[in-house]
Amino acid sequence: MSVDQPIADKCERVFTAAADKLRRLVAAHPDYLPQYTRAGKWKHDGASWTNWCQGFLPGQLWLLYLYSGDEFWRGKAERYCELIEERKDDRETHDLGFLFWHSWKRWHDLDGAPRQRDVVIKAGRTMGERFQEKGGYLASFVAPESAFIDIMMNVGIIFYAARETGDADLYDRALRNCLTSRRYLVRGDGSAVHEGIFDLETGAFLRESTHQGWRGDTSWARGLSWAIYGFATAYSFTRDPRFLQTACHCADYYILNTPAHGICPNDWLEPNPPRPFEASAAAITASGLQDLAALVGDPLRARSYREYAARIMESLSEPAFLACDDIDWEGLLKQAAYHERLGLGVDESTMFGDYFFLEAAAKLLKLI
Ligand code: GLY
Repeated sequence: MSVDQPIADKCERVFTAAADKLRRLVAAHPDYLPQYTRAGKWKHDGASWTNWCQGFLPGQLWLLYLYSGDEFWRGKAERYCELIEERKDDRETHDLGFLFWHSWKRWHDLDGAPRQRDVVIKAGRTMGERFQEKGGYLASFVAPESAFIDIMMNVGIIFYAARETGDADLYDRALRNCLTSRRYLVRGDGSAVHEGIFDLETGAFLRESTHQGWRGDTSWARGLSWAIYGFATAYSFTRDPRFLQTACHCADYYILNTPAHGICPNDWLEPNPPRPFEASAAAITASGLQDLAALVGDPLRARSYREYAARIMESLSEPAFLACDDIDWEGLLKQAAYHERLGLGVDESTMFGDYFFLEAAAKLLKLI
């Protein structure tokens, strides 16, 4: 399918703006890996809650290399990948997929070198160590009894490591996390639970909870975006139709509950939310929906997901979101939120929002 010219032009503008912003960032603050802006600036001493965003800058640098073929971006992408390699052994985080999939795995896809593959496999193995046998889930960084929907974005790296090494036990851990998440972290209406709390003695599910949504029983938008994208990825590795069904169910919830412009709030069920938009969740959805469209067999459904992704990108390309005319604003995508409840990076740019915005543009331009 050819790319519609007006949306292709908008995606080109996203790349042009990203190149401008990131050239300045790597020159002004070499080797710095930011998480979110404060008043539009990356470098600050604000708290980070958890250190999970370091893969998104090298990820953007790789996408700029793919777009432009300019060796400047390749050199920077390799350099920023090297900066995070040691985290492949980090047992304090559940975010090793976020750290290594868009950075080292992209590098491996381009080069095919065994070293990069080995780094990704090691990260996948470290991630697999978080498995809680009794509840059948990968524990979040918060506590052994806690499972996050976000972890669905980090199981792909475990499936990959298992496939590359033929490790059936590792594969089973990833699979069981997906089944548990599907059972307890996705509701009957297709909305997502941020955190599930389990009984460590029996493995029984105890209750819904959240750190970033309005309440434990409401509908945190970024969690749903991770679910759409993550279950589509799980299906791509397993071909288990339950995961495709869940990804579609979550996608349909997003579409049904969001105004026609396609940009969600931080939590759909928060009454009178203080801000109307959480743009990073929309960008993640625009990227995840394109993967999902390529996986669903039904051409009508595939088309509706592609069109919705394009609609989100149209909206995000407006100056209210794309910071292309605002040279003092150092991020790419405005009106995102890093952690609304803690008041960190709210109505700001985030490294993950910028990454998935660029990734969605790259998919629309058929670069990846
Ligand atoms: N830690 C993942 C998120 O904030 O969405």
